[in-house]
Amino acid sequence: MDGIVSSFTAPVLGLVGGPMGIVLPAIFGALIYLQDYLVDQRVAMIDADTDKIVQTYYDFIVVGAGSAGAVVASRLSEVQDWKVLLLEAGGDETDISDIPLLAAYVQLSELDWKYKTEPQGTYCQAMRNGRCNWPRGKVLGGSSVLNYMLYLRGNRRDYDHWEALGNPGWGYENVLHYFKKSEDNLNPYLAKTKYHGTGGYLTVGESSYHTPLTEAFILGGQELGYENRDINGKYQITGFMVAQGTIRNGARCSTSKAFLQPAIDRENLDIAMKAHVTKVLIDPIKKVAYGVEFWRDNRIHRVRARKEVILSGGSVNSPQILMLSGIGPEEHLRQHRIPVIQNLRVGENLQDHIALGGLTFVIDPPYSLLFNRVSGIKEVMTYAAMGDGPLTVLGGVEGLAFVKTKYTNASDDYPDIEFHFVSGSTNSDGFQLRKVHGLTWDFYNKTFGPIAEKDTFSIIPMLLRPERVIQLKSKNPFDYPLIYPNYFKEDIDMKTLIEGVKVAVALGQTREFRKMGSRFHGFPQCEHHARHSDAYYECMIRHYSATIYHPIGTCKMGPAWDQGAVVDSQLRVYGIKGLRVIDASIMPKLVSGNTNAPAIMIGEKGADLVKEFWLKHGQS
Ligand SMILES: Cc1cc2nc3c(=O)[nH]c(=O)nc-3n(C[C@H](O)[C@H](O)[C@H](O)COP(=O)(O)OP(=O)(O)OC[C@H]3O[C@@H](n4cnc5c(N)ncnc54)[C@H](O)[C@@H]3O)c2cc1C
Ligand SMILES: *[C@@H]1O[C@H](CO)[C@@H](O)[C@H](O)[C@H]1NC(C)=O
Ligand SMILES: *[C@@H]1O[C@H](CO)[C@@H](O)[C@H](O)[C@H]1NC(C)=O
Repeated sequence: MDGIVSSFTAPVLGLVGGPMGIVLPAIFGALIYLQDYLVDQRVAMIDADTDKIVQTYYDFIVVGAGSAGAVVASRLSEVQDWKVLLLEAGGDETDISDIPLLAAYVQLSELDWKYKTEPQGTYCQAMRNGRCNWPRGKVLGGSSVLNYMLYLRGNRRDYDHWEALGNPGWGYENVLHYFKKSEDNLNPYLAKTKYHGTGGYLTVGESSYHTPLTEAFILGGQELGYENRDINGKYQITGFMVAQGTIRNGARCSTSKAFLQPAIDRENLDIAMKAHVTKVLIDPIKKVAYGVEFWRDNRIHRVRARKEVILSGGSVNSPQILMLSGIGPEEHLRQHRIPVIQNLRVGENLQDHIALGGLTFVIDPPYSLLFNRVSGIKEVMTYAAMGDGPLTVLGGVEGLAFVKTKYTNASDDYPDIEFHFVSGSTNSDGFQLRKVHGLTWDFYNKTFGPIAEKDTFSIIPMLLRPERVIQLKSKNPFDYPLIYPNYFKEDIDMKTLIEGVKVAVALGQTREFRKMGSRFHGFPQCEHHARHSDAYYECMIRHYSATIYHPIGTCKMGPAWDQGAVVDSQLRVYGIKGLRVIDASIMPKLVSGNTNAPAIMIGEKGADLVKEFWLKHGQS
């Protein structure tokens, strides 16, 4: 593997194969025992007594302790004179959410909001009731506790485009500073370049363990004419890379561990878990946000902010909280009898990365991360004692790549498809992936039943730049909002993804994979089309449509003349004083890569904007 550059990635399927039901609890029992009695300096948990009593007044109230919110609270509480309150609807992380390979096991647990999209008929046809699962973290650390830990930043052009849309200060050179500020990159080869940072709070590295499939993936990319390079560096295109992720000593490095842990002893920071914010308190005449209302211990609490309320609830919840508070499309708010304080296009501009799931190749040698193979006492010991072994693989994702189809400019560094390379498939982890992807038993049994327990790998081709709406179901804050992702509404989105599948299929037939006897495993539901025709691939995509969990854009940042903008380039909500949104929902356009590092960057930059405002300009 000499000379193979590795870098961050994005999320996909967690894998661990086998009959989980009985084996898993035993393993976890052993694991927890080991973690208690062996050196566990990997991560200290935030303990219960930091779940402090909430006072009545704070300078800043941050809603949501996710990828961005944890950063915001940590950075604002660096100013000793400011009292900061962080409210989080969920509880703390667990031993299981720490294990990289078990990423998919966190979904549908109590650490997940467990959202589902509304059925629209044209995608997720293999899922129960045609609804795609939309996991979102409900835990300290937010979706950084559910994610596949893949560290990617997107393309420099994404940020230059944001700036060109009328958002000064968000161009690539500017945001690069914030990516580096967070980062503690453990790969010396990368750390010395101008694109990476060391000494930041967020640990970034590679899993120390790789299956032989990783090398085949990199070599396959080279055979197709792509280079092995740092896809978070100077170039993004033609990049194939060993996945890099937010892991520390082999365990998940969530934003809670990275940013809140070091801040936990600060007198001026209070963190309240299991605190579900139901609305922002806004003076309707002066249009000033002065606090929030939240539900905790079975009653409603009110807490006041002297300076600002900052929403970091993520792309589903931040727009929901705004709408519940009277900020949103007026016709929609009226429909739910919510008094309109500010008419803004909240919940629109929703964008997400959609992919084909379950694109599987069967191989002969025993290389895959099958549950039974990686869950023995030896592997568990290796993980618990040394932070090494197959359990440290980032949700089963070993490689990442960016490729171009015929629909993007061939001479530009602007790929339109990303690959997640997984050393296994939906057949390899017992039924967990079937469950978290919401696949029907009928689809699963027909498609993956015949290859259960077989060695496989999969390539998840993902469309990089697809548009579209989050609405309220009712004015009850505990009702889930309605999610309409409108995947493939544009014809070009489907066409581009079909081309991406073709590249993936070609990759699966490159030399190293052929040596392993690699063979494409199709979907029986699509056999009425000619194999490998565009119609066949379209049928696969419409059945096994897989979100890569990157919703953004529902509180869009934009200039005052942009009718769709919800916040300005300082992330202040238009028309309301003392209220900002700082999380992935402010992205005007989806970046060409996974969204965790970008959300953390938004947290870093957002916190600096707040500091600049209050420290330089004083009162407002
Ligand atoms: C399964 C999965 C896999 C992923 N894999 C990757 C990956 O490998 N790489 C990558 O780069 N990205 C990945 N992502 C995406 C990435 O994790 C998200 O884009 C990012 O975490 C979003 O950050 P955020 O701060 O906007 O929101 P979140 O991290 O979701 O944080 C929002 C927080 O607000 C809290 N909250 C919400 N509403 C309320 C309320 N009313 N009151 C109090 N608290 C509230 C939530 O509980 C949560 O903690 C993945 C996401 C998922 C779900
Ligand atoms: C493609 O990209 C090149 C290099 O940036 C540029 O010169 C050219 O105009 C682009 N072509 C199209 C059709 O946009
Ligand atoms: C699918 O297979 C599982 C496990 O073998 C079995 O329990 C289930 O009854 C099957 N369901 C259908 C609909 O075929």
